[in-house]
Amino acid sequence: MQTQLSEILREAKEQLKQAKTDRETEELRVKLLGKKGQLTGILRSMGSLGPEERKALGKAANSVRAEIEELLEEKFAALKEKQKELRFKVERIDVTEPGRQIPLGSKHPITVTIEEISRVFMSMGYSIAEGPEVETVYFNFDALNAGPNHPSRDLSDTFYITDDILLRTQTSPVQARTLLKQAPPIKIISPGRCFRCDTPDATHSPMFHQVEGLLVDEGVSMSDLKGTLDYFAKQLFGSDLQTKFRPHFFPFTEPSAEMDVSCFKCKGKGCRVCKGSGWIEILGCGMVHPNVLAVGGIDTERYTGFAFGMGVERIAMLKYGIDDIRLFYENDMRFIGQFK
Ligand code: DAH
Repeated sequence: MQTQLSEILREAKEQLKQAKTDRETEELRVKLLGKKGQLTGILRSMGSLGPEERKALGKAANSVRAEIEELLEEKFAALKEKQKELRFKVERIDVTEPGRQIPLGSKHPITVTIEEISRVFMSMGYSIAEGPEVETVYFNFDALNAGPNHPSRDLSDTFYITDDILLRTQTSPVQARTLLKQAPPIKIISPGRCFRCDTPDATHSPMFHQVEGLLVDEGVSMSDLKGTLDYFAKQLFGSDLQTKFRPHFFPFTEPSAEMDVSCFKCKGKGCRVCKGSGWIEILGCGMVHPNVLAVGGIDTERYTGFAFGMGVERIAMLKYGIDDIRLFYENDMRFIGQFK
């Protein structure tokens, strides 16, 4: 049995040397010293021995146990030390390392442009109105005097959700909603997202932004419209430009016009931006049609108003010289970061 004991000790030393983790060491402890362990086995079998022999073996077994316990303790301590070193290595802080830069975000050029447009109108006392992007056919078309056969109602141009609900094709429905909600004087602009069934290309996107405007009061005339939009264009593009109003048709205004500005790039001489004409179209406008005012129950004998609507992407593209509308939606920071 003595030899068995020395064998256990020898093996224990060998195995402890090989153990790499706390867990392996703990398993060894159980195997060597546990209730079902080798050493306990030997002590149990001592019953059959004579008293002298038992005493000697008991002593030897105890000293082996003590030695193994010490070895285990050392092993646990060594493993702990090793873990600590490893952690020091991993968690080492280099206080001389330069700080990591957190890149500053920037506003999207569409947001920047909406804010610029809004600032000009707010300086003239307009407030901001909002309307839903998922709109009723009634507000998007009927309330705006667009009859049942108006081409823009076509399934191929408009995203219908049901027969009565669609994704608004313009911000103009906010006009009708505002007329229902407020009594004159009304003076609002409404920026927002619009949707049309367009295949994306350099100048088209199925989702885009508009800013709508509406003013209703007593004695509002076409000259108020022209003065307001001329002032707006000069604030946005520069005080040296000229504006020009061309007759046009919109169902919700009468008379209707499109406003052109003299090309801010070539100052009207003709260039690539204005396609040689010297003029650039930037918005639609007109005197609010009495049928639209009537939607809000407004006395059309007493009140008149003007409205306008412009494409934000178009204005941003002109202002910043961007030649592809799709750039706005790609979320490429190299592009977006240029409009701080
Ligand atoms: N809603 C028109 C469009 O999407 C733009 C527009 C034109 C709005 C004239 C107006 C307006 O308020 O008076 O093409």
